[in-house]
Amino acid sequence: MCGIVGAIGPMDYKPFLTGGLRKLDYRGYDSSGLAFWNDGKISLYRALGSVDNLASIVPDRHPGSAGIAHTRWATHGGVSVENAHPQRSWDKKVYLVHNGVIDNFEELRAWLRERDFSFRSDTDTEIIASLIAYYLSEGERPLTAIKKTMERLDGSYALAILFSGIPGLYFAKNKSPLVIGLGIERINCLASDYAPLMDVCSDFTAPEDGTYGLLTGNAVFAFRGGKNIPLSFEPRNREDYTFDLEGYPHFMLKEIAEGPKVIRHAVSANFDAKTGYLFEQSIISSLRAADEIVLLGCGSSHYAAEAGAAYLNRSGFRAVSYIASEWIHGLYPRSRKPVYVLISQSGETADLISCLDLIDGEGRSVAIVNAKDSTIARRSDHVIYIGAGLEVAVASTKSFLGQLAILMLLAGALRHDDAVPLKLLDAATSVEEVIRRKSEIDTLASECYTARDAFFVGRGMDYFASEESSLKLKEIAYVHSEAYPGGELKHGPIALIEEGVPVFAFIGNPELGKALRSNVQEMMARGAASYIVSSSSSAREGDGFVYPAVDPSFAVFPEVAFGQLLAYSLSLRRGLNVDKPRNLAKSVTVN
Ligand code: AGP
Repeated sequence: MCGIVGAIGPMDYKPFLTGGLRKLDYRGYDSSGLAFWNDGKISLYRALGSVDNLASIVPDRHPGSAGIAHTRWATHGGVSVENAHPQRSWDKKVYLVHNGVIDNFEELRAWLRERDFSFRSDTDTEIIASLIAYYLSEGERPLTAIKKTMERLDGSYALAILFSGIPGLYFAKNKSPLVIGLGIERINCLASDYAPLMDVCSDFTAPEDGTYGLLTGNAVFAFRGGKNIPLSFEPRNREDYTFDLEGYPHFMLKEIAEGPKVIRHAVSANFDAKTGYLFEQSIISSLRAADEIVLLGCGSSHYAAEAGAAYLNRSGFRAVSYIASEWIHGLYPRSRKPVYVLISQSGETADLISCLDLIDGEGRSVAIVNAKDSTIARRSDHVIYIGAGLEVAVASTKSFLGQLAILMLLAGALRHDDAVPLKLLDAATSVEEVIRRKSEIDTLASECYTARDAFFVGRGMDYFASEESSLKLKEIAYVHSEAYPGGELKHGPIALIEEGVPVFAFIGNPELGKALRSNVQEMMARGAASYIVSSSSSAREGDGFVYPAVDPSFAVFPEVAFGQLLAYSLSLRRGLNVDKPRNLAKSVTVN
């Protein structure tokens, strides 16, 4: 999703702003732009495609004493230079960059039209610039114009704003991420996350929703509802935000390879062989007291939630999982005393934040999050960090394994079951073996990379591995892929099986293997090219890939590692951008 960067003070702006955008480009974007403030005049540059295209049209050592920049992931209006940010008001008094979505922009646009405002773009962002300009034209000063504009906006926004003829870098924030950094040498900065600021800032703060204010080279002033509010700044560990391929050709491959380390970290951070589980006692008590544990997530995090809920159920606790963007519609029953577990890599997923809006105040939310101090981490009553380290590739890999490991450890802690950490350590070893045999998966990919459709099947816990693997194939290899529980195929999907359609079947549970093998036979009889991925305790001769057996409930880990590597390999074979697939964003900050 969109990313913003801004700074004020003496510096060479072009490398800072374009470099900052590159550090945000994992979020996904289709155009970019920047603006410099120099002696009261603002110059604007925007380009389609990569930040390199933008850099090529911006002069080196461009003069300026403030600057804002943006990567845009199109929501309102197509991908065009006119829709790229910065957006400006018609009178060119206000220039701003925006991450978020304004829900009532059509109504505001009509209101502004009645007051003779014109527009150059189709964006909701231009409406914000115009509204601020309207209040300026009414004689308001910039901070009051921003405040009055915020009072009219429904939706989410992190804004960085420059005014023609008025010094200062202004900001406003509601429901979209924004970080402010105190610069090392008479500069102050802001951005959508910490990464672009680490080289030039020493201390940081993430303002609350509803905050707006002003950065100068020497100070940061913040307000809420017209009142000046103090901000507390803290240092951050630079290594947590470092992007380094460490010799790998792609971040996705590096992050898949880190999977075993992430599982082991989840164990060591939350379990001690002598003293037992290390989770905050208040988390465990509230989960035990709950009449239902409700797991919420989106995409891969939802699949981790599904597998986690199944394991919690198996462990004797009532748990359900829902897709966050659906749960908010109130279609599902709410029990008397639920505890909500919100699962997210980025901690910024808007659909999950909408769930928090409904849960807030109940004192019953536990976040399982990777990104430190992210919105979901800060707004939940309790937080458990996954500790997977920065995940750069758009496709979640190591964070999925980390999320599921934490959920399984929670089940172990609830039941006083000290075997869970050991089973997870076995799973980490099995994942390591899958990764070591990547070349076998590459060979398989070379045999099926032209397929247009694929199926993943499993039964019981193996079905969740099918779902996550199927999502990976869609996301980065652009192969239409379906995941089904083995028993469900004959109820409809089998009609889609044609000669040569690849079917990947996961068998981690010997007891369920027989039934799934029959399902695979049914598919093969109709021409499917089947490929069975089984654990060494479930394997039969002829299986395509056999991984070291683990407890059947934990087979999801090596199976998903297989699915991740298959998608990675297919994506490369198909000549695609593995780390930054089309249309997708790492941090999905719109509903
Ligand atoms: C996973 O590969 C996807 N990029 C996507 O489904 C992701 O899991 C989803 O958007 C949720 O993100 P989150 O974990 O940051 O909340």
